[in-house]
Amino acid sequence: MTRTQVVIVGAGPSGLLLSQLLDREGIATIVLERQAQRYVEARIRAGLLEQGTVDLLIEAGVGERLQRECLVHDGFEMAFEGRVHRIDLKGLAGKQVTIYGQTEIQKDLGDARLAAGSDLRYEASNVAIHDFGGARPRVTFIHQGRPQELECDFVAGCDGYHGVCRASVPADAVRTYERVYPFGWLGIIANVRPVAHELVYANHERGFALCSMRSSGRVRYYVQCPLEDKVEDWSDDRFWDELARRLPAEHATRIQTGPSVEKSIAPLRSFVAEPMRFGRLLLAGDAAHIVPPTGAKGLNLAVSDVFYLHEALRDFYRERAERPLEEYSGRCLRRIWKAERFSWWMTQQLHRFPGDAFAARMQETELQYLFESVAAQTSLAENYVGLPLEYSHDSRRTHAAA
Ligand code: APR
Ligand code: PHB
Repeated sequence: MTRTQVVIVGAGPSGLLLSQLLDREGIATIVLERQAQRYVEARIRAGLLEQGTVDLLIEAGVGERLQRECLVHDGFEMAFEGRVHRIDLKGLAGKQVTIYGQTEIQKDLGDARLAAGSDLRYEASNVAIHDFGGARPRVTFIHQGRPQELECDFVAGCDGYHGVCRASVPADAVRTYERVYPFGWLGIIANVRPVAHELVYANHERGFALCSMRSSGRVRYYVQCPLEDKVEDWSDDRFWDELARRLPAEHATRIQTGPSVEKSIAPLRSFVAEPMRFGRLLLAGDAAHIVPPTGAKGLNLAVSDVFYLHEALRDFYRERAERPLEEYSGRCLRRIWKAERFSWWMTQQLHRFPGDAFAARMQETELQYLFESVAAQTSLAENYVGLPLEYSHDSRRTHAAA
């Protein structure tokens, strides 16, 4: 049987970043991933990074291409009832946000792990975790046709919402909270010029629309759609037509159309599992929580979990400290719930929820108030750029100073 210090289940952004950070602390990891590498690297996901996420990626040694290719934005626009309002992130919250696709981060992390000669096993099937209530957890799986077993000190569950780790915890040890929204997002990627320099969020009577981007020549656009819709229902022409109807005229006239290079429909969900630690099993990222994409918090939250987790494991191996491990779940969840609240709020304000007249008036009033109140905009901006991380006792910075 092979021994390692930490077995990481899942090679998404959470698993690879954790492996990268632990490696830099001299902690050995083996990463087990169900899918093939090319599948993991082709998945299209979010693309908006908080400054704290960028800082950590740079610190982890995977920020070189990011810094070269990213776009930095000082604000974004919101459109409602014919008005376009700019949220001045930099002016209101003193921070910017960075556009760089999660697909690119996945590749950068994969390349860095490969260059470091890490033990990363793609296409590992039947992963099962055992004995994480004690000091010697084991992980069994099948790789290259052979049944295998690993013994470790810790299992990091970085295996996403549908993963095996959270599902292995006894049902009465975990509490879950969930909200499913009654619509989805149809998203496309096209190699055309963005409608505006910054992101544009629109709340229109036909539904939500978002104009985001991956670079100055590649756009990521979304429209709210019924959950029952299929990608085949949406020709490119229908998508461009619908987007134009939902955007204010000044942006609609600037839409450059072109063939979509990706098109998919994603449901919207809020989900949190508590706690995130079960003995020697620690969950991080989508394995423990999902946010609707409206606030672009999914990847940023995964990164903050991984930051806390690497600190807790580092302190354990350096000083046999148990306290950071005990505090891991609480530290993560305080930040997660605030991001859940913000993502829910953004979703609530920007989409059309049919059939609730009172809720519609509340939404209208909320957006009017937002456009008129610097205090309300400051609150939005503070959350959008990312709330500060809590730093541990031995970090140079403190929460208050961050
Ligand atoms: N065995 C091995 N690997 C597994 C298993 C399993 N049983 N189940 C799932 N996995 C793998 C998945 O194939 C996937 O590659 O775990 C990985 C989880 O990756 P993500 O779903 O990307 O989750 P995470 O790394 O936490 O990243 C969070 O991704 O979904 C976005 O919005 C989210 O941006 C956020 C980020
Ligand atoms: C994206 O670029 O995919 C994106 C950006 C901002 C959001 C959501 C998604 O709020």
